[in-house]
Amino acid sequence: MEKKDSSSSFTIGNRTQDRSWSCVPDCYVIPSSNRPSLAPETANVPVIDFSRLRQDATQRANAIKEIGNACHQVGFFQIVNHGICQSILDGALSVASDFFKLPTEEKVKFVSNDVRKPVRYGTSLKDGDDKFQFWRVFLKHYAHPLSDCIHLWPKNPPHYRENMGKYCKEVRKLALEVMGAINESLGLGPSYLSNQMEDGMQVMAVNCYPPCPNPELALGLPPHSDYTCLSIVLQNSAGLEVIDKRDGKWKLIPDVHGALQVHIGDHLEVLSNGLYESVVHRAILNSERIRISIASLHSMGMDEKMGTAEELVDDQHPKKYKDSSFRDFLDFLCKNDIAEGKNFIDTLKIKA
Ligand code: OGA
Ligand code: NI
Repeated sequence: MEKKDSSSSFTIGNRTQDRSWSCVPDCYVIPSSNRPSLAPETANVPVIDFSRLRQDATQRANAIKEIGNACHQVGFFQIVNHGICQSILDGALSVASDFFKLPTEEKVKFVSNDVRKPVRYGTSLKDGDDKFQFWRVFLKHYAHPLSDCIHLWPKNPPHYRENMGKYCKEVRKLALEVMGAINESLGLGPSYLSNQMEDGMQVMAVNCYPPCPNPELALGLPPHSDYTCLSIVLQNSAGLEVIDKRDGKWKLIPDVHGALQVHIGDHLEVLSNGLYESVVHRAILNSERIRISIASLHSMGMDEKMGTAEELVDDQHPKKYKDSSFRDFLDFLCKNDIAEGKNFIDTLKIKA
């Protein structure tokens, strides 16, 4: 049943807990060609047992080979046995969920359309624009170095800083380890760029997708790739879809309790000279539950330029991408309406 409501003041952010919508307002309805399937195929995603990276040399070499294949073939993998305790994962998801349940007055303190703000709350990418809106509310904040930014985070709910801070530290350690493994799989050695990543950016995108009465009409997040080297996503239920490069179809990532999702981002595509392409993904909706996801986005420093590794460039494999920094991405985002910078990578491609 497709009822329309053209009220331009409608915003899901004010009514996150309100489950009584009977229709999807016009501004959220996406063109029919881009609508999600209500019964998507489940992705056959590579699952990496991360404990093998910390075992003997043979186990580690095999796990690194699997990671390399996953990056090359899919641009995405799940990790299990990553060593972050379930209580830390649950603690982060629970304060994230509690934040979105706060009264509007608490949340609007953080509202901003300025993508350069270190903490901001929003109900769509560029609220108020005439374009489509997405069925998501989010809180984004920087997370490294933690002592420089934690005091800017929400004070409410009361355990937000403590629980989210613990998770941020753990997931960052893991991200550096994953990055080392990926670099090793490229033949670059585990400490390649490790100093730059150590001093790099960590941005948390804490997402809330309220139940949607007609989940086939709207999207939580449009198709995009992340600008990062890599992103690690924690979710409380399924809803993340990726394009399977092997057949070009959208596939739903199965929700595996305790698993974390690793996305290859644009800056790793640049680093690897296109050997590992960033994965295009989106968030779909459901009519029953609030879905929470926490994406930890890892890149080098704000002004550090990511370039293609020289070791991967030769006469047969000329350099395919221009160098760029996180700041270049933010500049791109300010000048372009493209939701979440899905085409940032295209601006970096060197035309043959
Ligand atoms: C993101 C993202 C996916 C999700 O925040 O960049 O892709 O499942 N999130 O919420
Ligand atoms: Ni993303």
